[in-house]
Amino acid sequence: SSTLERMRKDVRILLVGEPKVGKTSLIMSLVSEEFPNVVPYRAEEITIPADVTPERVPTHIVDYSEAEQTDEQLFQEINKANVICIVYSVNNKNSIEKVVSHWIPLITENTDKDSRVPLILVGNKSDLVEHSSMETILPIMNQYSEIETCVECSAKNLKNISELFYYAQKAVLHPTGPLYCPEKKA
Ligand code: GTP
Ligand code: MG
Repeated sequence: SSTLERMRKDVRILLVGEPKVGKTSLIMSLVSEEFPNVVPYRAEEITIPADVTPERVPTHIVDYSEAEQTDEQLFQEINKANVICIVYSVNNKNSIEKVVSHWIPLITENTDKDSRVPLILVGNKSDLVEHSSMETILPIMNQYSEIETCVECSAKNLKNISELFYYAQKAVLHPTGPLYCPEKKA
């Protein structure tokens, strides 16, 4: 992994998920360290300089919004990403169901079969519920080896926000799962 670290110039993190789960709010909360009451559909791409990231690698954070982007633009971003955060809202069952029925297949179809992109499941709006969504999420994690980890967070009370982006960096720089299957290449 130290070789990988030396070779990698930067990390590109893409956030996807159903509308209104809080993708833009998560990015803005990270950048401004406070919850923005009003957000655009899509945040500008931001680059965090190496020296202020935990892993010392320049990190690009890319937002997605169905309202402002075409499917083709989404597919291009999926292709460019080093790690993809699939965001759902812990108080919205439909947004969780879409992780498996829509987002994972869409990502699989649009990435190179030999180099799977690591995924992180992000349950946002944890401030709105008493109970964790982990019971629902764990079977999904066990089913898909490309899912590196999952995290529950809140853009509103800034819970687990910096952790989320740290996990995303780590998934690229120090992956724990196999990112390619040698037997498939034979
Ligand atoms: P699209 O751009 O339409 O795909 O939505 P999005 O996923 O970017 O969601 P956005 O950040 O626009 O947030 C949608 C709504 O959820 C807004 O009203 C936010 O204020 C609210 N919201 C976002 N994060 C949180 C959170 O952690 N807790 C609570 N309570 N509300 C949140
Ligand atoms: Mg948005």
